[in-house]
Amino acid sequence: MMESIANYKSLASLTVFKSVDEISVAFSVLLEKGTVNAAKKNKHFHIALSGGSTPLKIFEKLTQNRNILFDRLKIYWGDERCVPPDHPESNYGNAFNVFLKNVPIPASQIYRMKGENTPSQEKLKYASILKNMDIDNSIPSFDLVMLGLGEDGHTASIFPGDMEMFSTDKLVEETRHPESGQKRLTLTGKVLNNAKHVLFLVTGDNKSDVIQSIFNDQPEAKKYPAWYIRPSGKLSWFIDQSAFNG
Ligand code: 6PG
Repeated sequence: MMESIANYKSLASLTVFKSVDEISVAFSVLLEKGTVNAAKKNKHFHIALSGGSTPLKIFEKLTQNRNILFDRLKIYWGDERCVPPDHPESNYGNAFNVFLKNVPIPASQIYRMKGENTPSQEKLKYASILKNMDIDNSIPSFDLVMLGLGEDGHTASIFPGDMEMFSTDKLVEETRHPESGQKRLTLTGKVLNNAKHVLFLVTGDNKSDVIQSIFNDQPEAKKYPAWYIRPSGKLSWFIDQSAFNG
């Protein structure tokens, strides 16, 4: 478990935007550049989508950017709720409805975590799917991992009681939401921290205390799973003004 309190600001870039709309435009440009660069190398751009409500506001903007080479995208998830894809809380279902069904990404390039399956079996199946992508030091390496942030400092579906997710050798694990008890599937720290680029996308004043605590290296930041996201690649935060100063 990481104990070093390296100055977080030296590890992560923080960009504060006026609105979620501005975040959406910046994210859209980032994805456009990623797919164009991948095409130049005749490769795909492997992205793990985050769940919850924030990305849904951002996904809609992507459908308006026709410079994104959608056929170069391979879509995965950082986590999923253990519900069927047509359930209102399905991260896949929500992403499909606002984004994936409106853009020309081949269905064969969309790899959803099957929330309807038994978690203990699905986590093994998904881990094997991950092994089909670029492998850096024998661990799957995403080109981009999108992450959200919970008020309790959780990210993906790694909650404050799940710190073993940062020491396990597994690529995918099952967890439970601490309040609702809802079963979840989540990428583990081993995969998240092997990404070429991890981007936190966070809005809302209910996240500002956690963000300030992390960026100011406060001792209590150690209780937040988001604190332990230290990728071998780039670490960025795109947040809005309310997430920055409440
Ligand atoms: C999920 C997420 C989770 C989410 C945060 C923020 O499946 O819920 O992946 O980590 O990103 O809880 O959620 P909001 O964007 O809804 O605040």
